[in-house]
Amino acid sequence: MTTTITLNNGVTMPSVGYGVFQTPPDETATAVHTALDAGYRMIDTAAAYANEAGVGEGLRRSGVAREDVFLETKVWITDYGYDATLHAFDKAAGKLGVDQLDLLILHQPLNGDEESIALEAYRALETLLADGKVRAIGVSNFLPHHLDRLLDLRDVVPAVNQVEIHPYFRNTELLSKHDALGIVSQAWSPLGGITFYPGWGDKGRSTLDDATIGEIARAHDATPAQVMLRWHVQQGRQVIPKSVTPARIAENIAVFGFELSERELEAIDALDTGTRGGPDPSTVNRTDWAREIPEA
Ligand SMILES: NC(=O)c1ccc[n+]([C@@H]2O[C@H](COP(=O)([O-])OP(=O)(O)OC[C@H]3O[C@@H](n4cnc5c(N)ncnc54)[C@H](OP(=O)(O)O)[C@@H]3O)[C@@H](O)[C@H]2O)c1
Repeated sequence: MTTTITLNNGVTMPSVGYGVFQTPPDETATAVHTALDAGYRMIDTAAAYANEAGVGEGLRRSGVAREDVFLETKVWITDYGYDATLHAFDKAAGKLGVDQLDLLILHQPLNGDEESIALEAYRALETLLADGKVRAIGVSNFLPHHLDRLLDLRDVVPAVNQVEIHPYFRNTELLSKHDALGIVSQAWSPLGGITFYPGWGDKGRSTLDDATIGEIARAHDATPAQVMLRWHVQQGRQVIPKSVTPARIAENIAVFGFELSERELEAIDALDTGTRGGPDPSTVNRTDWAREIPEA
């Protein structure tokens, strides 16, 4: 069982969910079934991950009731624009095999001349929300100035901003802004996966091997992954750790049996390098990042 976070429209979401970025489409149903068996009740996928159908299949195979699982997916930038984004909902819901999504978010901001296309995409999310097709809407990888523009020009405050947050990139300025605006900080790469993904080149430092995190883990008879997840949860963030490994899937949800002290939380905060591992969101554009999203 996990605790829940209440979004700014009153909808609740489990604090610990399960992510499927880089989970191969043909392994996704098994991975999601394993996660649901382990007790997860929140799944984060995306049109761009090409595995929404596997998520739906895993949910059906698990036998867990649809209404007991919080499903989140993301619209890719190629599908931005008012009509295209309304249709992106149909594609996602069709692949997942559901009538309603719990949370639908814009995967990336757009910049410069393309900004208005992202604003139109968000207007479509507002329509889907008003029509009851989705229970909450939000964004991902938005920087403070992207949020400012959105709030100036649109009506609904995003329920979440899903952004890179881990011990080596705490994203402190953005987190304060989220708190002030009532936006839930949803941490991607909550374990610092971007610092050690296999096959992505050596980034020099892996959060999993960090000495401070290791020491705190030993003090609680926990693992480094559990300590990182506990750090997020205690500071009010929602997390979506990804694993295709059954033992790790179980490990990552077992974070409610210990508590970090203020000193330990601060020691992890102090590991922040201020440097993101992922791409700079102010460079995202529809030419270099184009990707066709197939029909359901
Ligand atoms: N919005 C965005 O732009 C964006 C970007 C990136 C990610 N995300 C979302 O955030 C989710 C999580 O982020 P992420 O996948 O980047 O990183 P993550 O969850 O921090 O780390 C995933 C990596 O850690 C390994 N791992 C998982 N649990 C472990 C444990 N207990 N001990 C040791 N290693 C462990 C996994 O390996 P195995 O799978 O081999 O076990 C995988 O290589 C994604 O799946 C996706 O849903 C969103």
